Amino acid sequence: SQKLLPSATIQLKTSPESDATIFFITPTYARQVQKAELTRLSHTLLLVENIHWIVVEDAPNRTSLVAKLLAEAKRRQVNRKFEFTHLNALTPNDFKTVDTDPNWLKPRGVWQRNRAIEWLREHFKDSANENGVVYFGDDDNTYDLKLFEEIRNTSRVSIFPVGLVGGLIVEKPLVANDKVIGFNSVWNPKRKYPIDMAGFAVNLQLLLKKEEASFSEQVPRGYQETHLISQLIDSLEALEPKGRQCKQVLVWHTRTEKPKLRHERKLKVPSTFGMIDD
Ligand code: UGA
Ligand code: MN
Repeated sequence: SQKLLPSATIQLKTSPESDATIFFITPTYARQVQKAELTRLSHTLLLVENIHWIVVEDAPNRTSLVAKLLAEAKRRQVNRKFEFTHLNALTPNDFKTVDTDPNWLKPRGVWQRNRAIEWLREHFKDSANENGVVYFGDDDNTYDLKLFEEIRNTSRVSIFPVGLVGGLIVEKPLVANDKVIGFNSVWNPKRKYPIDMAGFAVNLQLLLKKEEASFSEQVPRGYQETHLISQLIDSLEALEPKGRQCKQVLVWHTRTEKPKLRHERKLKVPSTFGMIDD
């Protein structure tokens, strides 16, 4: 005999997004800490169910360092679905910061994220049923596993707090009655969506439907997030607050200190000589 399930259970089971694949888009570039950053990130993503990691190198070609790292992660797959796509897109020279520039002078990751969006459009152009959520996850941030559970249900654009960014302990949307009514941002609060790249996720089908939606090298500093989200939704009303009504930090904008390698040049042979890298 069939028992009637409480409606909440039915909703959960049939919720169209609940089995969504999370497309985790990571721009990355060569520097001494790259392998360490990607190693740590791969360990996080290995613990996430149903994930597709899109790694886009800011490089003229795909490197074996990244290829090997991805293959190694795949080899250690423990979850039901762990896929990856390895791409590259070189930031044009005019837009690249040099060592002496402050890190915020030019936008970072723009060409790489757009390359990933382009790949999604190409790959899923005939897949109107593909359940997915797109998240822009930099290689140096710290991600709580609960973040993935939260964003997997994204019908339009989810939004949530980010720790250690914008000169604050936590930069966050302000929520009342399940709706975003503002933000606590202090840095450039005039922006319509004054949040960090790590503070939102997008429904895949929405991103595919808005064929022109992308990041832009033309917009002023700090406006990438607002630029993209404005192409997807019309108002704050449409935002879906996550993480206990935006009262929980599930991602931190950690940044890795540039390592001091001042003794390296004193060596007759580089310290890496003879090291095995596989
Ligand atoms: C902040 C935001 O959190 C980033 O999402 C945003 O891209 C960036 O500002 C910006 O200025 O546009 P921040 O920590 O300063 O972050 O930036 P990085 O973490 O250094 O770079 C963001 C991503 O782009 C990283 O995944 C990084 O590996 C990649 N990147 C950085 C490149 O692909 N190429 C570069 O030349 C620099
Ligand atoms: Mn960063």
